[in-house]
Amino acid sequence: MRRLQPEDLLLVLGARPPTDVGAWLRDGLRDAVATGRLEPGATLPSSRTAAAGLGVSRGTVAAAVDELVGEGVLESRPRSSVVVADLDRRSHGTTPGPAGRPGPGAERPASVGAPDPALFPRAAWARAVRDAMRELPDAELGYPDPQGLLGLRRALAAHLRTARAAPVEAEDVVIVSGVAQGLALLGEVLAGGGGGDRVVVEDPASPGVVAQLRDSGLEVVPVPVDDRGLRTDALPDAAAAVVTPAHQFPLGVVLAPDRRRELVAWAQAGGRLVLEDDYDAELRYDRQPVGALRGLDPEHVALLGSVSKLLSPALRLGWVVAPAEVREALVDAKRRADLGCSVPEQAAFARLIADGAYARHLRRARLTYKRRRGLLLDALARDAPHVPVEGVAAGLHLVVRLPDGDGEAWAVSALRGAGVPAEPLSGTSAHDGTRGVVVGAARVQGTAVPRVVEILRAAADGAESRA
Ligand SMILES: Cc1ncc(COP(=O)(O)O)c(C=O)c1O
Repeated sequence: MRRLQPEDLLLVLGARPPTDVGAWLRDGLRDAVATGRLEPGATLPSSRTAAAGLGVSRGTVAAAVDELVGEGVLESRPRSSVVVADLDRRSHGTTPGPAGRPGPGAERPASVGAPDPALFPRAAWARAVRDAMRELPDAELGYPDPQGLLGLRRALAAHLRTARAAPVEAEDVVIVSGVAQGLALLGEVLAGGGGGDRVVVEDPASPGVVAQLRDSGLEVVPVPVDDRGLRTDALPDAAAAVVTPAHQFPLGVVLAPDRRRELVAWAQAGGRLVLEDDYDAELRYDRQPVGALRGLDPEHVALLGSVSKLLSPALRLGWVVAPAEVREALVDAKRRADLGCSVPEQAAFARLIADGAYARHLRRARLTYKRRRGLLLDALARDAPHVPVEGVAAGLHLVVRLPDGDGEAWAVSALRGAGVPAEPLSGTSAHDGTRGVVVGAARVQGTAVPRVVEILRAAADGAESRA
């Protein structure tokens, strides 16, 4: 296999910046491996040679390599050589089990909203677990506080105050195992609270979220979304509304300022609750995300978030910032459901936030997804300018409307065949005419870019252009 020279690295890294060379080296190498510009199996120069050729210290090279080995982007081999990992093999090298079911160790198909697992900060997480376990008092190794570990609630409250411009104190936070559980528990509280059992959902919306609410015993009332978000002029009487104001799922629009105010006024007028599903709000690429709706009225808005889009859905860790009126009932529902979330995982996440590794990861993930999204949109604009991509520069997915159901079914199947997560837009709506495809764009890179462009162009062009 090829032995790389410092010049090969300079070619993919671009010009050395005056400051923060560690991030330049680490992020540039990660991106070059992820996009296939550094081929799997190629051997990196020794840290001494690389440092001399790149004009950085050996310590900087060693720290970047260490982190990327921890993430699985590079592999450390005997006699201290370091090679480029084969990310394709790592993510697709699974054996199907009997009757088409995934075999032992096989992956389930990735969801359109899942982050790229290659970006998970493995080394930082492992460090956070080790440090957390060293510090955790024995008393915390009994049954957990069902509201969540105080240390994590404090760290999250500080993070959300800054990142989401929302008033949050540790006592407002309830730790749950994801937005899905937060919605299910709040649904239970609403259904049992005598305040009515109808809940407004956006149309279109995540089918999983809608199913979750129905399973909690609520009657779901769809209200249409247009290019300014939820149609607040069409809000019916209901006990609550579940909304995605920072980045509507799946259409990707942002709720307009006047509609934010109207939605909150609707909640205030009827003593109702807004459930703000903030699933991917911190992944905005062109500007700061709009502040959380909770900032307008903390007593009528529950803010729900999780690490699923920002770190990994495998952790099953999320939060509800709950209005005082429902907090106790919510903690009670959490206790009844599962007695509380894993303390070691909560402690590790608290460490990750407190030592700055979480913020560093978010910055890095944002840059990577922004770059990938930009490359895909540039390729679409160049080679398929008539394919309509909707939504603001944010999140992990893209939506393309298609003229008919055949194109929709064909595009979903062709994209999945190419290893790209895809869902039919019609599955997200109660409205018959909604046709299109939701694409898991976060993982689209390298040779997948022209393939996705080709599929979307053929789907938009009609049956005769599909091979
Ligand atoms: C819009 C939306 N809300 C909520 C969820 C559930 O997320 P969690 O993994 O935090 O339960 C998802 C998952 O994909 C989603 O797309």
